[in-house]
Amino acid sequence: MTIVRDFFIGLSQNELLNSAAKKYGLKMGAQSVVAGTNVAETMESIKKLNAQGMSCTIDNLGEFVFEKDEALEAKGNILEVIEAIHTHEVDAHISLKPSQLGLDIDYDFCFENLEAIVSAAHNYGIFVNFDMEDYPRLQASFDIVEELSKKYDNVGTVIQAYFYRAEEDLNKYKDFRLRIVKGAYKESDEVAYQDKADIDANYIKLIEWHLLNGKFTSIATHDHHVINHVKQFVKNHSISNDKFEFQMLYGFRTDMQQELVREGYNFCTYVPFGNDWYGYFMRRLAERPQNLNLVAKQVFNK
Ligand code: FDA
Repeated sequence: MTIVRDFFIGLSQNELLNSAAKKYGLKMGAQSVVAGTNVAETMESIKKLNAQGMSCTIDNLGEFVFEKDEALEAKGNILEVIEAIHTHEVDAHISLKPSQLGLDIDYDFCFENLEAIVSAAHNYGIFVNFDMEDYPRLQASFDIVEELSKKYDNVGTVIQAYFYRAEEDLNKYKDFRLRIVKGAYKESDEVAYQDKADIDANYIKLIEWHLLNGKFTSIATHDHHVINHVKQFVKNHSISNDKFEFQMLYGFRTDMQQELVREGYNFCTYVPFGNDWYGYFMRRLAERPQNLNLVAKQVFNK
């Protein structure tokens, strides 16, 4: 299982395959988990999700950018999405990755790009969530969110439960709107739990703590064991539905997504769009090789 996971994570970081994928459009089943290649298509997908009672967080796909032009292009795309959210009056906010906006190029350059995005979103009352990437980028990302939060109240971020330091970070940033996840990257045992049972146990612990002590919790998982546990926990502690939401990725466990909405929980779908789908898609295969079924369905159901 670990070998399969490492194989797909290795593929997700292959630059050659990544750039080839951009040229060839949505392939290999990615079209079932990516909402569209442009803003117009994505807005149509979002309107459908909103009509089903789901809010959305929109991710302009792309990460690990090393050229300034590419980072500026990504900034332009995200600003376009912000305008579209406002113009189309959809129930949606932004998710972004600092490495797409130049974190690996220059800290100040990245900060300027991110501030432009957060400020534009702030003008329209749109929330911006900073996705968390791998460990080498973790502290710099927290630093940027913290700095921006002094000026803007529309920023939040992610806590990855596999990190030993997650509890400390959760405590420090408890007043942010936080998304709590298990963690998607390959990390060493010097910084992160490796065992699924340890990660799951820490995940539950962090969610419970933040539900009791935090501001607003986004519980982002497809794991029905965790979801059922949270349902029982909020009931036992009389935590009202407006203190938390469930989040899942677009195209995954859609029956369960709809069921949560029917049950009256706040639900937000993470909607990725664009041509830079390769790394995102490979990480999903790494998490759950059965996701290859999605590929098979796309290939054979023509
Ligand atoms: P996990 O993969 O551990 O599965 C647990 C169990 O749930 C499985 O054994 C199976 O029984 C069931 N299950 C899971 N998926 C299923 C499916 N498709 N069909 C049927 N059963 C299924 N990571 C990160 O590092 N930084 C980030 O910013 C984010 N952001 C983010 C946003 C959102 C909205 C989500 C949902 C996830 C992220 N992640 C993330 C990814 C996250 O860290 C994690 O890698 C994945 O969500 C996979 O872990 P799960 O908790 O979903 O269940």
